[in-house]
Amino acid sequence: MLNIIAISGSLRVASTNSALVAALARNAPPGCQVTVYDRLGHLPIFNPDDEGERTPPEAALLIDAVTNADGVIVSCPEYAHGVPGGLKNALDWLVSRDAAVGKPAMLVHASPRSLFARSALAEIIRTMSFALYDGAELEVGLLGKKAPEVAAILAEAENVLAVRKALTTFADFIRSR
Ligand SMILES: Cc1cc2nc3c(=O)[nH]c(=O)nc-3n(C[C@H](O)[C@H](O)[C@H](O)COP(=O)(O)O)c2cc1C
Repeated sequence: MLNIIAISGSLRVASTNSALVAALARNAPPGCQVTVYDRLGHLPIFNPDDEGERTPPEAALLIDAVTNADGVIVSCPEYAHGVPGGLKNALDWLVSRDAAVGKPAMLVHASPRSLFARSALAEIIRTMSFALYDGAELEVGLLGKKAPEVAAILAEAENVLAVRKALTTFADFIRSR
């Protein structure tokens, strides 16, 4: 069983990115379990002085979750043409460890815009030595939609299929490594 963790870069209660990662968790194909990591807002601000023995427990939880995962999926909004601080902060806790090295990662998208954040995130993920899989290209247009419409869109057969297909190809990528 592949153990994949999915992270939304948004802390909003009605976040479209969080709805997308929840849909990934609901629609995992056989042989795949997707667990949502939703503790971005609990992480302290990264400080290199607090690494090693001083690693805060909340950061250790994230580091362990990534270490024990077979793959990581990220869905992230764009703020002012950049990656939101909460997600960047979480990634910073993983930089000087082994957790990310060679770890399969995939980006999925809840907005057709966010092109600056997409490419910045891909650059960060590659620089951290994740093995970025860019073959699936899952994008569901949820930008600006309210919760009921988001739920309806994510329940549409074609989107359920697209979510499953992205997970299946990502799982194949993980298994091929
Ligand atoms: C402070 C702030 C800045 C934003 N800046 C951008 C931006 O530069 N480019 C963009 O495409 N969208 C921008 N947006 C829109 C968000 O990326 C968009 O609403 C996204 O769907 C929010 O994700 P969420 O529903 O998961 O919270 C911004 C939103 C906020 C709140």
